[in-house]
Amino acid sequence: MAGIPQPAFYMFMCQVERPEGFPKGSCIKPHNRDIFQYLSESLMKNSVMGTVVPVQSACMNRCNLGPVVMVEPGHTMYVGLTKEKIDRIIAEHIIGGNIVEEYVIQKEFWAEAISPEQMRKMSGVR
Ligand code: FES
Repeated sequence: MAGIPQPAFYMFMCQVERPEGFPKGSCIKPHNRDIFQYLSESLMKNSVMGTVVPVQSACMNRCNLGPVVMVEPGHTMYVGLTKEKIDRIIAEHIIGGNIVEEYVIQKEFWAEAISPEQMRKMSGVR
């Protein structure tokens, strides 16, 4: 039995907007409020919506590098997005299978993850 297919990819895009001058910065600013809409439309235009699911996300703590999108599977974090970059990510990564390395977050901002178990220990949970 075939069943309903899983999505091949999820694209989590931070949608947090903070006021101008807020120290933490934010991915969404007045000039790019339509970027998630653009991502969705681009997936539709490329006929991959459904097997690729765009997801509006909360802050992923890379606020000064935004707009950001994380592609799963693969845990690939793209930063400094523009509409042109989104088109290239869809063409080359999502459809072509090749990560667009020049848009990937620098390693210094994307170090190894802390496991939930480690995090609990660091928080003093026994
Ligand atoms: S506001 Fe987007 S990562 Fe924090």
